[in-house]
Amino acid sequence: MRANHSNGHSLDGEALPEPFRAKMVEPIRLLPKPEREQRLAEAGHNLFRLKADDVFVDLLTDSGTSAMSDSQWAALMRADPAYAGSRPFHDLARTVNDVFGYDQFLPVHQGRAAEHLLAATLAKPGDVIPSNHHFDTTRANLAAVGAKPVDFPCRESLDPDGRESFKGNMDTERLEELLASRAHVPFVMLTITDNAGGGQPVSLANIRRVHEIANGHRVPLILDSCRFAENAWFVREREPGQATRPIPDIVRDIFAAADGFTFSAKKDGLANMGGLLGLRSPEKMERLRQRLILVEGFPTYGGMSARDMATVAVGIREAIEEAYLRSRIRQVGLLHRWLSAYGVPVVRPAGGHAVYVNAGRMLPHVAPEEFPGHALACALYREGGIRSCEIGSLMFDATPDDATAGGSRRLELTRLAIPRRVYSDNHLDYVARTAIRILESAHDVHGLRITQAPASLRHFSARLQPL
Ligand code: F0G
Repeated sequence: MRANHSNGHSLDGEALPEPFRAKMVEPIRLLPKPEREQRLAEAGHNLFRLKADDVFVDLLTDSGTSAMSDSQWAALMRADPAYAGSRPFHDLARTVNDVFGYDQFLPVHQGRAAEHLLAATLAKPGDVIPSNHHFDTTRANLAAVGAKPVDFPCRESLDPDGRESFKGNMDTERLEELLASRAHVPFVMLTITDNAGGGQPVSLANIRRVHEIANGHRVPLILDSCRFAENAWFVREREPGQATRPIPDIVRDIFAAADGFTFSAKKDGLANMGGLLGLRSPEKMERLRQRLILVEGFPTYGGMSARDMATVAVGIREAIEEAYLRSRIRQVGLLHRWLSAYGVPVVRPAGGHAVYVNAGRMLPHVAPEEFPGHALACALYREGGIRSCEIGSLMFDATPDDATAGGSRRLELTRLAIPRRVYSDNHLDYVARTAIRILESAHDVHGLRITQAPASLRHFSARLQPL
């Protein structure tokens, strides 16, 4: 693909290769096609049920799948497992202070534990919690305590073809309307980058405006900051006045424009496990700390082992390194360019952690109730041993009411999430070629119907049958 591809990367003077080299490798293998067919059938056509060993290129998620650096492994080996006040906890506290500018935080086992603490402690039945676009675990944690999560995505996010720079922004007019109403809003959230909406960034200006509006009503703003580093890169690349600023300064500004944050270290923490919760209010922090002790652990380890904390303390610093971020964003953009150059419909512009294929458009003969995004995901496994994830009618089974309907809810997407520092451009070239081959005989791809499904979060465990 590269040789005849004018949009390729290798002749581009700007594009340096990855700023790392391999010193340990993990073999992967491509099963023969009849075996892939068989594995898929045994898994009830649900890719979450496959054994990872039966997958050749695994783009199911970018969460917890990063390759750690030698510095992270060294820190892991040196970690002391003290119950209270371990060295990794203090290293992590220094990182959180230096990078995010917060002097207090709670360590949790992953992002959704932070969401749980926040929801269980600060939200109550009937409360309304607005966001640009809540991630599904955030939404579920808020709903579990009887609160109502609502999405206010900006208008631009609804058009998958629009090339606006910050399609992750929140619609601030709708936020103002809500805050001026009689609704009780304990906090406002902003997801950076907007995963559910296509991995699109939120501008610094939008974060500041949301903060200003929320604080004007004495309501705190909490960032869902899983992919803060990738968001900061896009701020520098696309936002007026930011082009010459160092990434760490932009990151500080992002976190300074909020009153708290939840963080899954499995994304921009470059770690395989871990999460954080930060709040500026000492009083609220104390309430959450008490809850942390109940459900996660003592405050200097919470939900993490000291070894995990050590990897996160180093990983967060590596995630804002210029050379790393450049190669990360370049690689995701490369797959996006290759696919779109050959006519595979993708959500525009490229996001930070994944390429979202518009499967509804690629497979127009498959109706939404036959799950085009999932049909494409199955085809990618059948044709190439590639695992991806549907974000569409299978994932969002309930009909959303107007207030909670986010941009991607109207779309039938297949997400190709790229693990950090794991695959080479050759792997992505293979993924692109496989997708293009599927496009060329798209009519051979059939929809599916559900044969067995649980009451909620059905996409994780449902069984399906091709039509
Ligand atoms: N918020 C966002 C925006 C996320 O993308 C995720 C996880 C979470 C919160 C929850 O964090 O997994 O550590 O509990 N996203 C993963 C994904 C699962 O594949 O996009 P977690």
